[in-house]
Amino acid sequence: MKIVLGVGGGIAAYKSAELARLLMQEGHQVQAVMTAAAQEFLRPMTLAALTGRRVLADLFAIENAIDHIRAAQENELMVVAPATADLLGRMANGLADDFLTTLYLAFTGPVLLAPSMNVNMLAHPAVVANLETLKRRGHRIVEPGVGYLACGMTGPGRMAEPEEIAAAVGREAHRRRDLEGEVVLITAGPTQEPLDPVRYITNRSSGKMGYAMAEEAAARGAAVVLISGPVALRPPFGVELVTVHTAAEMRREVLDRLGPATIVIKAAAVADFHLSRVPPQKMKKTAARLSLELDPTPDILAELGGRKGDRLLIGFAAETENLVEEARRKLRVKNCDMVVGNLVGSAEVGFEADLNEVVLVTSTGETVTVPRAPKREVAERIFDEVLKLRLALHAAQ
Ligand code: C5P
Repeated sequence: MKIVLGVGGGIAAYKSAELARLLMQEGHQVQAVMTAAAQEFLRPMTLAALTGRRVLADLFAIENAIDHIRAAQENELMVVAPATADLLGRMANGLADDFLTTLYLAFTGPVLLAPSMNVNMLAHPAVVANLETLKRRGHRIVEPGVGYLACGMTGPGRMAEPEEIAAAVGREAHRRRDLEGEVVLITAGPTQEPLDPVRYITNRSSGKMGYAMAEEAAARGAAVVLISGPVALRPPFGVELVTVHTAAEMRREVLDRLGPATIVIKAAAVADFHLSRVPPQKMKKTAARLSLELDPTPDILAELGGRKGDRLLIGFAAETENLVEEARRKLRVKNCDMVVGNLVGSAEVGFEADLNEVVLVTSTGETVTVPRAPKREVAERIFDEVLKLRLALHAAQ
């Protein structure tokens, strides 16, 4: 694969030389591009010798006149390591004040970013917002590790090891845009079921898993419709967002948009009960005790399972115990092709958390465990398994 290796000006630039060597060893063609600051940490000669190519750095050198456009067109993947706070800021905001950032704007392929910086810089709201913007653009982040940092502090911020970044490049090289042509309909977040005009019942779903699924599907080339309950997340770029509040609204939107969908992912934590007749006025605090009689909401997934057609139907099962058994039961009862079981109730994974660990059960009898990882990586594994399942189902026909 033809790869641009963008190197920012941080101390982790010394690891970029090792990354360049690994990528070359794996048979890639590597074009190194350095910022001015990067050259303070690592000499271009080092990368030139390792990649066998002149390093691109100076936008205004006569011989480079249109090289940033040529490099953007010729290369298939861009890896930025280290992605410093400054570089992330310039990329997020579309600045084009050097060779690397100009090339970035002209580049249309997938982008991998390996952030590296001091603990406090990584936690700064400006950096958090920039990373958020870049993720929403579909770029993949090779998360920084936790450990000793050159500034003497210990914590998150240390660039992922070259082997880890090279592995992410390897996955990208295989994946490319394997969801192109698919229409993926995803539901996410909780629903809110009103009790009166000012009160409602809901649950602790943050929507992060469903949004990560939407980001991943869009990055892999799918047309994505995201039907979302109320969440505090910004939608990924390039995704059609439909917002709803209640289970009934979610059902209506899902059924309305089902036609072209080839893959349906029901990551939403739909309320199971609602008040079917919501009083028009706010309830008064008159009695000492209040009993509410709730009715079941429509089970959207089960309804879709009843008229599945050719499309793949993937449900989620958020459980606090007996995960695999419950996931299997839901797979059967709701006639899905796959159920993603996740344990909820702990602070580290599941609802509200940034990490997840899940078990996938399929209609072909497979059980796949996806170990604890950021939700986007879990989403990546889920789509890998969805595509495998599609092949297995076709082969069985
Ligand atoms: O609530 P339950 O554990 O049965 O949810 C499992 C799956 O069913 C999830 O994928 C969820 O989105 C879906 N579901 C639904 N409509 C409901 C309840 C759940 O589509 N009313």
